[in-house]
Amino acid sequence: MPGCLMMSAGGITIDDGALIAANVQLISNNHDLYERQVITCKPVHIGKNAWIGAGATILPGVTVGDNAVVGAASVVTRDVEADMIVVGNPARFIKRIPPRPDCAVRGHADEPIQLGLDSCGD
Ligand SMILES: CC(C)(COP(=O)(O)OP(=O)(O)OC[C@H]1O[C@@H](n2cnc3c(N)ncnc32)[C@H](O)[C@@H]1OP(=O)(O)O)[C@@H](O)C(=O)NCCC(=O)NCCS
Repeated sequence: MPGCLMMSAGGITIDDGALIAANVQLISNNHDLYERQVITCKPVHIGKNAWIGAGATILPGVTVGDNAVVGAASVVTRDVEADMIVVGNPARFIKRIPPRPDCAVRGHADEPIQLGLDSCGD
């Protein structure tokens, strides 16, 4: 995606199906607090099908679990469990991804337009 920054000295792993939006920063290194020319490294891991919203920053050592969501412009300082949604700076848990809606019931006129596959996969 445009504008993404990946500082990969500590290692960055992005698993299959992960969505990395525009202007995301994946950062796997810090500077030592006393010897600033020394780089300290911790890996960043983005799990399978995780979605990192636009402009979010993932800091060194963080794992974003499978299918988790990071809100736009969030700064993630701690691991995110699978299937959780976190937002803000510092990113905090807001909810677990709810179960997929019942596809037998079609939506109302005021529901948002979905492009591409709908939630029923057709
Ligand atoms: C994280 C996200 C998916 C949550 O969507 P949602 O489930 O519809 O959540 P809601 O809009 O109901 O918001 C729930 C609460 O979280 C807050 N919130 C949502 N996204 C937030 C964000 N990025 N940063 C800070 N707070 C956020 C809302 O203000 C709301 O707070 P409240 O309960 O105090 O009113 C969505 O807000 C988001 O950030 N999407 C990323 C969009 C993007 O980057 N798109 C690029 C294309 S990949």
